[in-house]
Amino acid sequence: MRTAVRRVDPLRPDVRAIEEAAALLAQGAVVAFPTETVYGLGASIYSPDGLKEIFRAKGRPSDNPLIVHVNDMAQLDLVAVAGDVERSLMKKFWPGPLTLILKRRKYGDQVGISDLVTGGLDTVAVRMPSHRVARELIRALGAPIAAPSANTSGRPSPTTAAHVLQDLKGRIPMVIDGGETTFGVESTVLDTTERPFRILRPGAITPEDLREAIGEVILDAGGPVESRPRSPGMKYRHYAPRQPLALFYDPQIGVYACRHLMAKGKRVGVIAPSEHRAYFPHEAMVIDIGGLDDQFSIAHNLFSSLRHMDERGVDMILAELYPPTGLFYAVNNRLRKAAGYLVLSSTAECDAL
Ligand code: TXA
Ligand code: MG
Repeated sequence: MRTAVRRVDPLRPDVRAIEEAAALLAQGAVVAFPTETVYGLGASIYSPDGLKEIFRAKGRPSDNPLIVHVNDMAQLDLVAVAGDVERSLMKKFWPGPLTLILKRRKYGDQVGISDLVTGGLDTVAVRMPSHRVARELIRALGAPIAAPSANTSGRPSPTTAAHVLQDLKGRIPMVIDGGETTFGVESTVLDTTERPFRILRPGAITPEDLREAIGEVILDAGGPVESRPRSPGMKYRHYAPRQPLALFYDPQIGVYACRHLMAKGKRVGVIAPSEHRAYFPHEAMVIDIGGLDDQFSIAHNLFSSLRHMDERGVDMILAELYPPTGLFYAVNNRLRKAAGYLVLSSTAECDAL
C-alpha cells in the first residue's frame, strides 16, 4: 500500500486534505493525523473495518481499548454517560489533553459504541482534542474518531509525521503532516468510574492541575507488577527504543554507568538535561533534552530523543529521571516503561550491566 503524505498548516489546514482524509475514514480506512499530544491513527467509531485496521496496522493487542475523540458534547453523549464532576472537568480541560474513562452509553439493549473500541469493557475513554487538524477531521467525518497513538505497538509514540512513516509506511493509506505536536506526551487518562478519581496514565494535564480542579486524585506509583491492571494498556511493554535502556536519578550514577559500558567497548547514548550534559564523556552520544526548569521542552523532546537514539546505532541508552512534579510525572512514567523499569541506583548495579 502506498502511504500518501499530505502536508497542512496546523493552524489553517487545507480543506481538501481534510476532506480527502475524512472520505478515507468514511470508507473504512485508517488515517494518521496530528493532535496536540502525539500523532493518532484514526478510524470512524462506526466502521468495524476501520477499527480492525487500526489493530492490524499497529500490531496492537485487540483487548487494548481505544480513545474516542469527539468534536462536541453531543458526540460525547452518543457514546458515554457523564455526571456533574466529569462535566466540570470537561469544562475546564476540554478541548485539551485529558482523557476521561466514563460509563458506556446504552440504548435499550444496545450500547452506543462497538466492543472493538472498548475492548469489551463497560467503560469508554473519551477526549476532545484541541488540535485544529484533529477537530476539522472529526467535523468533516461527522462522527467521533477512535485513535490510539500512530506508532507500531510497543514503540515510542510519534510526535512528527516522519515518526509515523518510520513505523507505518506502506501499512496505512495516508498521514496528515501538521508538523511537530505540541506536548509530545500523550493525554492524561483519568478513571472517573470510582471515587476518588484515579490517574491511569499521567500525561499532558498534570496531577497538580487535576487536584486543583477537583481535590483528591489518586496517582499510583506504577511499577512492573500491576497484578490486575486497571487499564489494559498498563500490562504491555511500551514506548521502547530498539536498544536496551537504563535509567538513573543521580547523574553521578549515570556517568559511572556510562564509563563502565564504554570501558567494555559499548557505544553509549545518554539522554540528559542541559544542566548535566557536560558531566558525561565526550565519546558518549549525549542528547540534551532541555533545561530542568523547562518541563515542557523535556516532555516535548522525549519520544523524538528515544527514536533518535535508534538512528544513531548505539548499543545502550542511559536516561535521567526527573523530580516528580508536573509534566515530569508523565516523562518518568514513559521512561520507566520504555526501560522495563530498569533504574540504576548503585555502582554495583552499573557493574552488572
Ligand atoms: O494523547 C493521546 O491520548 C493519544 C492521541 C492520539 O489522542 N492517544 C493515545 O492512545 O495515547 P493510546 O491508545 O496509545 O492510549 C490509550 C490508553 C491505553 O493505555 C488504553 O489501555 C487506555 O487508554 N484506555 C482506553 N480505554 C480505556 C478504558 N475503557 N478503561 C481503561 N483504560 C482505557
Ligand atoms: Mg500508545
